Amino acid sequence: ACGSSSSQESSGEAETEEKEEKKTLRVVTDAAYAPMEYQDKGEVVGFDIDFVKAVAKEAGYEVKVDHVGWDPIFVEIEGERADLAVSSITINDERKQSYDFSVPYFQSTNKILTPEGSDIKSAEDLKGKKVAVQNGTTGQAAMDALLGKNHKDIKKFEDNNLAIMEMESGGAAAVVADNVVVEEYAKNNPDKKLTVIEDADFDSEFYGLLFPKGSDLPEEFNKAINSILDDGTYTEIYKKWFGT
Ligand code: ARG
Repeated sequence: ACGSSSSQESSGEAETEEKEEKKTLRVVTDAAYAPMEYQDKGEVVGFDIDFVKAVAKEAGYEVKVDHVGWDPIFVEIEGERADLAVSSITINDERKQSYDFSVPYFQSTNKILTPEGSDIKSAEDLKGKKVAVQNGTTGQAAMDALLGKNHKDIKKFEDNNLAIMEMESGGAAAVVADNVVVEEYAKNNPDKKLTVIEDADFDSEFYGLLFPKGSDLPEEFNKAINSILDDGTYTEIYKKWFGT
């Protein structure tokens, strides 16, 4: 507890922590997906980060959150170099074959982001256009399904912000990514006059925490998720990031 402030010491927290010897879990994320996970002055923040910290605390763990990037998340979890991942990760059957998930904690769907004056009004309108997606996401899967796997018009980027930059520099007519992320980006950049297409009709998805296959943690974490859903903690975090 070196360097702790007097206010921390007077709360007695440092002492309690030492006695309980809470295990610190390594959590990996791709912090380029605001408002879910992103970097603010070198710190990893976002809805998911507050969420995973609250759940871990409820389950009796400390966490250390590392930004590793999207593809590396799966490598780290598969190699058990991380205990869990939080990164707006959609629960699906394909991933369930290689990883374990928590119960769902957040509902999502893909949406189309377009620049001002675009004639794209629906998913069908994406045919014949270049579309930027983050590699290995459900956004890419949705475009594989619509345009054909590995179609030349699907431009894949390792980071969602790079996909957005591609659209802004004219290399793609649209970005397909999770609704909360494209909505936040359009809202935070009013000068760019971007449009989020509302009736795109992509599947409903649910995010889960990702664990190595066979991990003991999901059971404890599921209990903790249910407790923070029940006791109002989840709602508080939701309001902090989404305001409603
Ligand atoms: N929900 C989508 C998926 O699971 C995209 C998640 C991307 N997350 C991120 N932090 N870049 O494929």
